[in-house]
Amino acid sequence: MKTIIETERLLLREITLDDKEALFKLHSDPGVQEYTGEPVVESIEAIEKAILTRINNYEKYGYGRWATYLKNGMQFVGWAGLAYLPEFDEIDLGYRLLPEYWGLGIATEASRAILNYGFDTLKLKKIIAIALKENKASIRVMEKVGMKFYKFAPYEPGSEDALWYWCDKKLIAKNKSH
Ligand SMILES: CC(C)(COP(=O)(O)OP(=O)(O)OC[C@H]1O[C@@H](n2cnc3c(N)ncnc32)[C@H](O)[C@@H]1OP(=O)(O)O)[C@@H](O)C(=O)NCCC(=O)NCCS
Repeated sequence: MKTIIETERLLLREITLDDKEALFKLHSDPGVQEYTGEPVVESIEAIEKAILTRINNYEKYGYGRWATYLKNGMQFVGWAGLAYLPEFDEIDLGYRLLPEYWGLGIATEASRAILNYGFDTLKLKKIIAIALKENKASIRVMEKVGMKFYKFAPYEPGSEDALWYWCDKKLIAKNKSH
């Protein structure tokens, strides 16, 4: 199992098929999916298919969404990471956590580390993040890590307008010095 990122409290590693039950618990929770614009996942088979896409994307792009653990007890808390969005030619920061781990600063801690990894290790030039306007927690995370709002636009054809944020290495560095 390949560990990608380690922070004070967290380990981020590549997702494997062994994560299917944990990911099913996450994506079948209506509270988790509520403001993501994605439907609740109904079957383990759908999760398996999604995991195979994730694994394929690690190979294709060299990054992806990563299983996220609390180091203390190696407790699975959800996923966080990057995804290439071919329809927009952008690289997107995203996160989903089990509700029992919300409000502990985990998404912020993971996101800061992911952005640093994206700019310093992967040498990416720009990373974006997209959230529905109702998703106050997600928007707050984007702002806390130093990303900047730049447009209201749909995140897929026909969807409602969402908030788009962006950052580059310079913008993140500015946030760190505050
Ligand atoms: C979005 C999500 C990842 C945030 O994770 P988290 O670990 O709880 O985030 P953090 O604790 O790092 O930060 C959350 C911030 O949002 C704030 N917040 C939470 N709910 C809020 C609300 N309803 N209104 C305003 N602010 C809110 C918190 O107070 C905190 O800000 P603060 O540190 O200034 O107090 C988590 O809620 C989640 O998994 N949600 C379901 C999936 C999802 O929507 N993913 C994002 C899709 S775009």
